[in-house]
Amino acid sequence: MAHCVTVVDHPLLQHKLTMARDAATTTDNFRRLVREIASMLAYEVTRDLPTEKIRVTTPVAECEAPVISGKKLCLVSILRAGNGMLDGMIDLLPGARVGHIGLYRDPESLEAVEYYFKLPDDVEDRLVIVVDPMLATGNSASAALSRLKEAGVSSLKFVCLLAAPEGLAALGAAHPDVPITTAAVDDHLNDHGYIVPGLGDAGDRIFGTK
Ligand code: URA
Repeated sequence: MAHCVTVVDHPLLQHKLTMARDAATTTDNFRRLVREIASMLAYEVTRDLPTEKIRVTTPVAECEAPVISGKKLCLVSILRAGNGMLDGMIDLLPGARVGHIGLYRDPESLEAVEYYFKLPDDVEDRLVIVVDPMLATGNSASAALSRLKEAGVSSLKFVCLLAAPEGLAALGAAHPDVPITTAAVDDHLNDHGYIVPGLGDAGDRIFGTK
C-alpha cells in the first residue's frame, strides 16, 4: 500500500493548534485544546470506516439507515503524552478499548526503549489507532507499531497532532501500510529531537511537569 498521510486542515482545528503552540498557553488550556483537537482528529481518522444499512423505525416511518460495521476499535496511547489525546477520542468513540505502550526516548540515542505494554485480549481482531501527539524522529511510533504487529495486529492507523518531515519519512519507510493522520507537518527537528516550531514537550505541557 502507498504511504498515506492526511493533514487535517479544518479551520477550527488549526485555530486550536495555534493556541496550543503558544508558549503562554496555560496547562489547563493546553490540556483542553489537545483534547478538543484529538476529537477532531478522531472524526477524520474514522472517515473511512465501513458502514452497513440496518432497518430503523423513526417516529414517522421505517427506513434503512447506516451504522458502523467491520472491525471494532482499539485506541493505543504511547505513554505518556498519548494519554492527553485519549479522552477527546473516547468522547467520539465511547465503545473503543484502550491499550497503552510505555516507551521513553533514550536522551543520547533518541531510540525508543519499552517499559510498559498492555492491550485488550482480542486486539488482533480490532482496528488499532495509535495516538501520540508528536511524531518527531518516528522512533517511538515505529517501535510501537512493530510491537503491535508482533502482537498480531494487522489493521493499524497512526494519529498525531504534529509531525516533523523526518518522522513522516521514517515512519513511512518502516510502516508503509499504516496511514498517518496529523493536524500539521512542521519544518524540521532540532538537535535535541524537538519539532520546530512545534509546541515544546507535549507531555510536560499536558501534565504541567515543567
Ligand atoms: N516530543 C515532544 O513532546 N515534543 C517534540 O517537539 C518532540 C518530541
